[in-house]
Amino acid sequence: MKSILNINNKIKNYNKTIYIPGDKSISIRFVLLASQAIGKSVAYNLLNSEDVKNSLNAIKKLGINYKFKRNKCEIYGKGFNGFNFKNNTVIDAGNSGTLARLIFGLLINTNNSVIIKGDKSLSKRDFYRVVKPMRLFGQVIDSKNFKLPIKVKGTNFSRPINYIESKGSAQVKSCILLSAMKTEGITKIYCKPSRDHTEKMFKELKLPIKIVKKNNSQIIFYRGKKNFKGFEYNVPGDISSSSFFIVLTLLSKKSKILIKNINVSKSRSGIIQILNLMNARIKLKNKKIYKGETIADISVQSAKKLKSINCPIKFNSSSIDEFLLIFLVCAVTKGVSKFKKIGELRNKETDRLKFANDFLIKLGIKTKVTKDSLKIFGNPNLTLNRKYIIKNFDKDHRACMLSIIAALALGGKWKIHDVDSIKTSFPTFVKMLKTFGAKLN
Ligand code: S3P
Repeated sequence: MKSILNINNKIKNYNKTIYIPGDKSISIRFVLLASQAIGKSVAYNLLNSEDVKNSLNAIKKLGINYKFKRNKCEIYGKGFNGFNFKNNTVIDAGNSGTLARLIFGLLINTNNSVIIKGDKSLSKRDFYRVVKPMRLFGQVIDSKNFKLPIKVKGTNFSRPINYIESKGSAQVKSCILLSAMKTEGITKIYCKPSRDHTEKMFKELKLPIKIVKKNNSQIIFYRGKKNFKGFEYNVPGDISSSSFFIVLTLLSKKSKILIKNINVSKSRSGIIQILNLMNARIKLKNKKIYKGETIADISVQSAKKLKSINCPIKFNSSSIDEFLLIFLVCAVTKGVSKFKKIGELRNKETDRLKFANDFLIKLGIKTKVTKDSLKIFGNPNLTLNRKYIIKNFDKDHRACMLSIIAALALGGKWKIHDVDSIKTSFPTFVKMLKTFGAKLN
């Protein structure tokens, strides 16, 4: 993939039916869980992206074999004690926060040390959020500033924990659950709802998880350490990747799209709810349940009269990776849109709140930003006729794809750097856009 893209033309109207590659969160969880199963697990439509390949490399380094061909992946798990590796084995998580954080959980019972490292962007991100609970389980963690690289060593005497997870992070919750899975006794996690793929996979595997809901929070109980056999998983399409096409269609003239077989579970589909509150009229068709996840086809048309939103904070977690796109829609919608308690955006692949604010200002949109909120003064008559250069975004794949969508939907002359960043989550993105007639070079 070229690392700079020039876009000088809006996309022409289209009417398309598309499939989107597999869900990244589920693909990584499949790899990690399958590494702990007894016997062979198989996934179909596993996402073939850098983050998932790094997950497969990680289990391989820990002594677990796999085969991955044309999106079919077989993993030959050896149970909870199946890891076999030399002391100080290095695992490179690349750009993947999900891999880097979840793998701590699997390393709770290892005798040898592992050094977890990541790329420049991941090495700036906070790991105290997993170090704190994992030390309570008994993991030995060598870290000065809670940034990667971090050295971890397990224990033969891990103990279950009671933990209040206050960030609403699915990565932290899942890390704890993976460690609880390999620890005798009952672990309790008090947390706010967030994406719940790990819990759903556990239920499908008949593992002893119990979830008690209480107002806006929940307590998860897990009784370790029941083992499980290899399993199969058909990975549905990724809503986060689909969202780029949803927004492109909404903001383009006389266009329509049907996106097939997407995971639209409540914990992930906040963007659809938010955009529909803004009058987008996105429809879900052929809904079905698969292994606890809600799968549907998403139908979208060019938007007619969007309205601004005072975004309810209850959608913050289920749209956490889609805010950049939602902000773009607000930019061209009449009225003032408001978002509160979105400070976690500052802890993503780049500081996405800063990026979004700078980006909107660059487009000529008035904003007001604080440490955890954003107001966008939308302009439905926005015309872009200048030159826009997008760089220095810590190679955040979503910042990069957002810029491409903005260029294709709104016009202007764009030069977008670090386009190779997209391979972490959606390597076929540019190729797919070209099949829509988009001119990118
Ligand atoms: C993810 C959880 C979210 C999300 C990330 C993927 C996951 O992060 O932003 O892209 O797969 O568990 P947090 O857990 O930090 O909210």
